[in-house]
Amino acid sequence: MRFKHTRTARAASVVVALLAWACAPTQTEPESMRSIETSQFGVIEGEPVTLFTLTNASGASVGIIEYGGIVVSLNMPDRDGNLGDVVLGFDTLDAYVADTPYFGAITGRYANRIAGGKFEIDGTTYELPVNNGPNSLHGGIKGFDKVIWQGTPTESGDGVSFSYVSQDGEEGYPGRLEATVSYTWTDDNELQIDYEASTDKPTVINLTNHSYFNLKDGGASPILDHVLMINADHYTPVDATSIPLGEIASLDGSPLDFREPTAIGARIGDENEQLGFGAGYDHNYVISRDADGLALAATVSEPETGRAMDVLTAEPGVQFYSGNFLDGHHIGKGQVAYQHRSGLCLETQHYPDSPNQPDFPSTVLRPGETYKTSTVYKFYTR
Ligand code: GLA
Repeated sequence: MRFKHTRTARAASVVVALLAWACAPTQTEPESMRSIETSQFGVIEGEPVTLFTLTNASGASVGIIEYGGIVVSLNMPDRDGNLGDVVLGFDTLDAYVADTPYFGAITGRYANRIAGGKFEIDGTTYELPVNNGPNSLHGGIKGFDKVIWQGTPTESGDGVSFSYVSQDGEEGYPGRLEATVSYTWTDDNELQIDYEASTDKPTVINLTNHSYFNLKDGGASPILDHVLMINADHYTPVDATSIPLGEIASLDGSPLDFREPTAIGARIGDENEQLGFGAGYDHNYVISRDADGLALAATVSEPETGRAMDVLTAEPGVQFYSGNFLDGHHIGKGQVAYQHRSGLCLETQHYPDSPNQPDFPSTVLRPGETYKTSTVYKFYTR
């Protein structure tokens, strides 16, 4: 079924897509719960912001809004089959607009930091707003997390694609950039995110999703008992402002080494300069891979509920951030005050400050080229 994309149609809370296998349930096959529902999440600048709720055959669901392309909910079963929301976020659009540490958002044009808010392409220097100490973080003052993306359910009926056109010079970045981020929600509880962009002038790009996960209770308690594995032999050590030194350093003997599954809290308080700079874990890991395409970046599991998540990506890096700057002042879903380290992020990406680091994989996008990358968050229980 083709989805007719009008604001009026979207304003009503209706089921817009049911897949073919929902028909004629037999006694052996339970009826599929698959659907995409739309409802109005709020209004910004006079425009309604649509919430798309994608439910898969077993009833697990993900909610995504057009503001920031934010994943506002992810309801996953625990080992007894009880659904629980595993991402931090807010109940209202106003709360997201007022003050969010990038909960669930698409971050760009350049996710992570650019040193001094400056970079050069082909001899021209570009200046970006500085919003994180001396650096530019996550695309500037009004990055991709704060713009309205136009959402359209995909033809396949199991996803929504979000589009945004960023004008030449927006937040200091050169080139008119056309970006599309598609979220697909499979019956195997996989949230696949496909990113695509093109430009009319040479520019830099690094897109990610900034979801904060708490597989136990969605953020009511700290993530320190979550067990993490990061598939990386190396990382990019940083200076005191979290800008990479340029070195690809070995993780041997470091409390940042997560090759063996380890509780996040086990070494987070260790005396270590890098942990000090990040106020905990806030580092880019160089994913070990044999080939291009999707590779396992990380696995995180929560012993009590049995919930687990694999992160697979085509990106060369993943930023592991242990929610060090959460301090209880964000009152989230269900009136929960998100305390220190109540969520963790695994932001798949190119390395921070790549535009100023000639030895890092390039983040330059030129006219005629297509930026294309994918990441999958796969949920299951143990
Ligand atoms: C990223 C950064 C962190 C922090 C969070 C948002 O993960 O690496 O330092 O800024 O975003 O609070």
